[in-house]
Amino acid sequence: MNWEIKDEVFVPDLITNNGNKFLIGNGYLGIRGTLDEFKKNEFVAVNLAGIYDQVGDAWREPLNAPNGLYTHIEFNGMKYGLPEVEPASHNLSLNYRHGILSRATTWSTPTGLLKVTSERFASMADKHLIVMKYSIRVDNKGVLKIVTGIDGDVWDINGPHYDDVLLQDDSDYLSAIGITHENKDLVCVKETIEKNFHTAEKVIKTGRKILREFTLDVLPEHEYTFYKWVSVYTSKDDGDYGNLTYELITKAKIFGFEHCKRDHVNEWEKKWKISEVVIEGDEEAMEALNYSTYHLHSIAPRHTDSLSIAARGLSGQTYKGAVFWDTEMFMLDFFLFTEPNVAKTLLKYRIDTLPGAIKKAADYGYQGAFYAWESQEGGFDACSDYNVTDVFTGRKMRTYFKDKQIHISAAVVYGIMRYVNFTGNYELILNGGAEVILECAAFYYDLLVKKVHLDQYELLDVIGPDEYHERVNNNAYTNRMAKYTFESAIGVLKLLLDSDDVSNLKENNGTIKENLKDIYESLSDKYDLNNLLTKYQDAANKIYIPEPNRQTGVIEQFDGYEQLEEVSLEELKTRLLHEKEYWGGAYGIATHTKIIKQADVVTMLNLFSQEYEPNVLLTNWKYYEPRTEHGSSLSACMYAMLACKCNMPDIAYPLFLKSAMADLSGGGKQWAGLIYIGGTHPAASGGAYMTAVEGFAGVHIEDGEIKADAKLPSNWKSMKCNVIYHGDLYEIKVTHENTEINNLGQI
Ligand code: BGC
Repeated sequence: MNWEIKDEVFVPDLITNNGNKFLIGNGYLGIRGTLDEFKKNEFVAVNLAGIYDQVGDAWREPLNAPNGLYTHIEFNGMKYGLPEVEPASHNLSLNYRHGILSRATTWSTPTGLLKVTSERFASMADKHLIVMKYSIRVDNKGVLKIVTGIDGDVWDINGPHYDDVLLQDDSDYLSAIGITHENKDLVCVKETIEKNFHTAEKVIKTGRKILREFTLDVLPEHEYTFYKWVSVYTSKDDGDYGNLTYELITKAKIFGFEHCKRDHVNEWEKKWKISEVVIEGDEEAMEALNYSTYHLHSIAPRHTDSLSIAARGLSGQTYKGAVFWDTEMFMLDFFLFTEPNVAKTLLKYRIDTLPGAIKKAADYGYQGAFYAWESQEGGFDACSDYNVTDVFTGRKMRTYFKDKQIHISAAVVYGIMRYVNFTGNYELILNGGAEVILECAAFYYDLLVKKVHLDQYELLDVIGPDEYHERVNNNAYTNRMAKYTFESAIGVLKLLLDSDDVSNLKENNGTIKENLKDIYESLSDKYDLNNLLTKYQDAANKIYIPEPNRQTGVIEQFDGYEQLEEVSLEELKTRLLHEKEYWGGAYGIATHTKIIKQADVVTMLNLFSQEYEPNVLLTNWKYYEPRTEHGSSLSACMYAMLACKCNMPDIAYPLFLKSAMADLSGGGKQWAGLIYIGGTHPAASGGAYMTAVEGFAGVHIEDGEIKADAKLPSNWKSMKCNVIYHGDLYEIKVTHENTEINNLGQI
């Protein structure tokens, strides 16, 4: 495996897509895979994690920092750069083992070839640092102009987010400080360079750009190189952002390019030591899978202890840079298995945003915690009431994602419980997790509607994972997840009420016991814990979970789904009047049919497979798969995983590849009308990882031990991965015949 993806011809139409495919990042920032001379028209973005801005009534979205890598050149008075000047050759390449993006482009000039090479990385060793090397060679002597600096005229979808960009030239340092519109936050980018040529420098401030300009006579036998160190800090990171940027790049420059690169590479190597998955017999799958987890590593928030990951990672402002259920249900397992500290950070974000979730519930008139469908900082729900624009009328369409996708709260509970089960560590429960679970249970409890004659509870007027069918009753997935929430709350309540019995906890019992007593005391002031236990036991027992139909074995996705029109996906597509029209909502072409957007019942069966007979799993897989558009990148992996559970790894395989290739193939929806909605697909990446490790290798926990029950695709000889369970690192190797699990000890 060469850990490299390449693009060997320059195709202007691929600029946008390559921005995602060749993305580099370090969790604090993501840099789209664009070229040095590109500007906002080419969707350049240095996308920042967890900081947002709103202008007017437009969607609130994350910030793109001024681009400190901006560079262009001129030779003998003529500008050479893409996309304007066609190159003689071009190569863009991403080394995804180490997150290094390189380009090599040559242009024909009247006096021979001109070659530019550059290399850049977002340091994994210091999250505020970006490093670049840029070189030029010519075939014949001439006059070269190099222009490099900071471009503060950034690409925004709903901007401009900077009311002003202050440009500063301070001896060897250039700075651009953007002042945000909404909160007047400051985003400070500072750069300094080192060059192997001697010539006077001219600093130019033009609009929102601050640039250094060098004009030099160049000779063919030399390579003209400069190195660049860029630092990004915001006033939210630290009030001393000016000094911090200065100190960081000063130090980095003293250490030099190679040293910075070595530190960066070493950090990546540490990640792969645990997370690399080795597949014998299928190079393509191995590359796609490790490329997927490369993306997860690049966006993992390691610079803080409380932050989550946006649905499009750090690839830009689409999906408002918001956090969805994607994190807990699709990405979490990768981090739990390979870097539990990141998993903790993701969940801590949910614990810290509980007040936002309680406020959202209260705004709708409910008790408990209703987490944001599209969560930004503080748990603010960025989801609009009108998420889609009708392509025919240009009017906004009312969608109910924010109001009705109540399954989001259960996803948060699921994440916290999974963390406890996998790490054996109760710290999250003890530090706010217990409240989250109790508040989520309170929310569902408040929503229950009692059907008196059946003595059962129902959840009405919801949206399940399949967004094409809005406002339905008794969505099987939602009801089962609400039950899961009640069951988790019961577990927490029992733990608290019985805080003397901590024998089942692996950790230092003394500390846990004291902590439990503390939270018991604080929570019993707030809640009547015994009463809650009785209520949630009753709710868990009586909530209606749609059962497999006695004749067909099919679980109805929601009440009345069976009565919807039966139509094939192909037939439905012929009814489209516009290629970009929305399939759901009130009048969408799928709304009145059985065609669903993404895995729904199948997601439930995946999570609770042990509660169903194998034939029920298979029947439902076969029933729902042809009726699924896979219109969300979250869908294929759920079908792939259930296919593994049904012993059909070869049927799972193309669905696995679809998830693993989501960013490589550049498929997926890029535009909604005139709105760009593309970006990377971290949930699909996480789904590909889950399919490989939990599906094909069959890694699972049984009686408190890690086990593997492999169902490898027939073209795979073996698969090897490492998994952290209860603080120990396990090396797992499976073949068609054998399973080897070695405990490598505490990590
Ligand atoms: C899917 C949601 C998902 C969101 C963000 C939507 O298209 O239907 O399930 O959470 O995208 O990835």
